[in-house]
Amino acid sequence: MMSFRKWFGSKPEGEQAALKLDADNIPNHVAVIMDGNGRWAQKRGLPRVAGHHSGMKNVKKITMAANSIGVKVLTMYAFSTENWKRPKEEVDYLMKLPMEFFPKEIDELIANNVQIRMTGWPEGLPNYTLKAVQDAIDQTKHNTGLILNFALNYGSRKEMLNGIQRLAQDMKENKVAADEVDEALFSKYLLTDPLPDPDLLIRTSGELRISNFMLWQLAYSELYFTDLCWPEFTEPHFYEAIGEYQRRARRYGGL
Ligand code: FPP
Repeated sequence: MMSFRKWFGSKPEGEQAALKLDADNIPNHVAVIMDGNGRWAQKRGLPRVAGHHSGMKNVKKITMAANSIGVKVLTMYAFSTENWKRPKEEVDYLMKLPMEFFPKEIDELIANNVQIRMTGWPEGLPNYTLKAVQDAIDQTKHNTGLILNFALNYGSRKEMLNGIQRLAQDMKENKVAADEVDEALFSKYLLTDPLPDPDLLIRTSGELRISNFMLWQLAYSELYFTDLCWPEFTEPHFYEAIGEYQRRARRYGGL
C-alpha cells in the first residue's frame, strides 16, 4: 500500500484521515450532489443564499482535498435544469457565484494544476455566468491535474434525449450503423464525453435520491449518502467517504 505521508507528513490534524487511505485505490472520478445549503442556512437563521455562499467556499476546500489524494475528476452539481423553478432571487444569486468564485480562486487553482470544465447547456445561462466559467476554462485548459467539472444547467434525461437525437441524425446520414451502437459509442453523445464515469457519488443532506444526475454514467458507481449539509461536509468527511468507497467491493454484476 502506497502511503500519503509524502503529502501529509507535515500537514495539520484534520488530514490524518487521509493518511489511512489506500493510495492505490483512489476513485478516479468523484461526483457530488451538493445538497442542503438552504437547510444549513435556515438552521442558523440565515437566508438560504448564505448557504449557497458557504457551499461555494466549500467547493474550493473539497477540490483541494480531492487533488491532494490523487482524484482525477471532481464533478460538482451546481445547478440543475430543474433549479430554474426556484425563486428568481435565488436563481440570480446562484448565477452570480461563478463571478465571485473564479476570480478569487483562479490563481490557487492554477498553482495546483487544476483544469476547470463545465457539463451542461450554455443556453439559458446569463452571459456573465458563462463568461466567468469560460474564462476559467480558458485559463486552465493547459493544466494537466485534477479536472474540476461544474455540472451547470445540467439534467440527465435531457442529456440522454439530446444524445439520442444527435445519434439518430448521424444514423440517418449513414455516419453510424445500428449495429455499431454500443455503450462506448452512446457515451460519446453525452455531455460528459470524454470524462470517465464516476466511481463514487456523494450526496449530502440526508436525501436518498439521484435527482436526474448522470443516470447513465452512475450505472456502476458506489453511492455515499451523508446527513451532513454541504457547507458542513469538510475535508475529513470527504476522506471518510473515500475510505468507505475503499471498503466496498465493486463487482460490476460479476462475483
Ligand atoms: C442544493 O442545496 C444546492 C444548490 C442547488 C446549489 C449548489 C451550488 C453551490 C454549492 C455553489 C457552486 C459554486 C459555483 C462556483 C458555481 P439546496 O439549496 O437545494 O438545499 P436545501 O435542500 O436545503 O434547500
